[in-house]
Amino acid sequence: MRPLSPGAASFFQSFRATRKGELHLHLEGSISTGTLVRLSTRFRNPAFPSAEEVSRRKRLHGPSSFLELYRDVCRCLKSSADYAEVARDLAQRLRRERIAYAEVYVSPAVVERIGLSWSEVQGALETVFAGHEAAGAGRIVVLLDSVRQWGPETAERVLDLHESSPWPRVAGFGLGGDETALPAREFRRVFDRVRSLALAPLIHAGEWGGADGVAEAVEVLKPVRIAHGIRAVEDAAVVRLLARRHLPLDICIASNVATGAVLDGRNHPVLRLLRSGVPVSLSTDDPGLFGTTLRGEFVRLALLGASGRELRTVLAASRRGALRPFSPPGPARRSRGTFPPSPRR
Ligand code: HPA
Ligand code: ZN
Repeated sequence: MRPLSPGAASFFQSFRATRKGELHLHLEGSISTGTLVRLSTRFRNPAFPSAEEVSRRKRLHGPSSFLELYRDVCRCLKSSADYAEVARDLAQRLRRERIAYAEVYVSPAVVERIGLSWSEVQGALETVFAGHEAAGAGRIVVLLDSVRQWGPETAERVLDLHESSPWPRVAGFGLGGDETALPAREFRRVFDRVRSLALAPLIHAGEWGGADGVAEAVEVLKPVRIAHGIRAVEDAAVVRLLARRHLPLDICIASNVATGAVLDGRNHPVLRLLRSGVPVSLSTDDPGLFGTTLRGEFVRLALLGASGRELRTVLAASRRGALRPFSPPGPARRSRGTFPPSPRR
């Protein structure tokens, strides 16, 4: 790691006050340790009996131990009130970091798998997110998520839920989970439907799977952004494809190190991708589980050698890649002209 350049140091002086966004954030992974222990210890044989046990489980041994941790966290959620509690943890963290805009993956597939009603959970989340916005704390946009290893049928079910009761806060649909379980082409029809529902298609790829999986996802599913995508760096042609199409990667450096997607954080490819012309934004992914902050992500990037200009480019990429404007829709604003507008003749 290198010392910060003067440009990078000055970037951090204004970081807190800067309007920032993050585009890759999972609701369940935003749970705080306190909430996790409290929700878990309501039952016999808790998976997370203490903060020490949470710390132990957070020491991962690769993707499968991360997916098991994630599964066990989700199993602690037993009601829509529990989901609301996690949403409050998330909102509190966004306020603490002064994040003006966040796109948050929420998984109806997980909600139903743990036996809860999606419409109740959706209602509970909406109350928390709307309250956050009404308090002027920033905008929260939802990305519906399905779990790749649960197959296209589960993804279709998520879309059925959305189609039968559209949630205006939803702007996109993504696939997370074990990207090595099924190839992207299995989801071609799902993604055609995603587009027909006017949702932005997104996908986790190039995290634990290779560059070929990124290329297939791009060509077959035509996502508007890719979550992670870092292993594209293993194939120069795939990097050129991303750069040529201006296809943004929502990169999460601390997550990649924690899950073993990158074995040595000092060799994280984020700067190589950026310098090859690929749009890159930074996010925390699962801040409750990885103990990371957006500022921490930028510090990591700076320590990899990013200049002040590169840090600003990455910061701006979150606004450019966002599915909606940073400011929440406020109460109907008066137009500059007459109000109500005079009838058209
Ligand atoms: N990858 C795959 N699935 C996930 C992740 C991730 O980074 N975070 C939460 N679910
Ligand atoms: Zn993710």
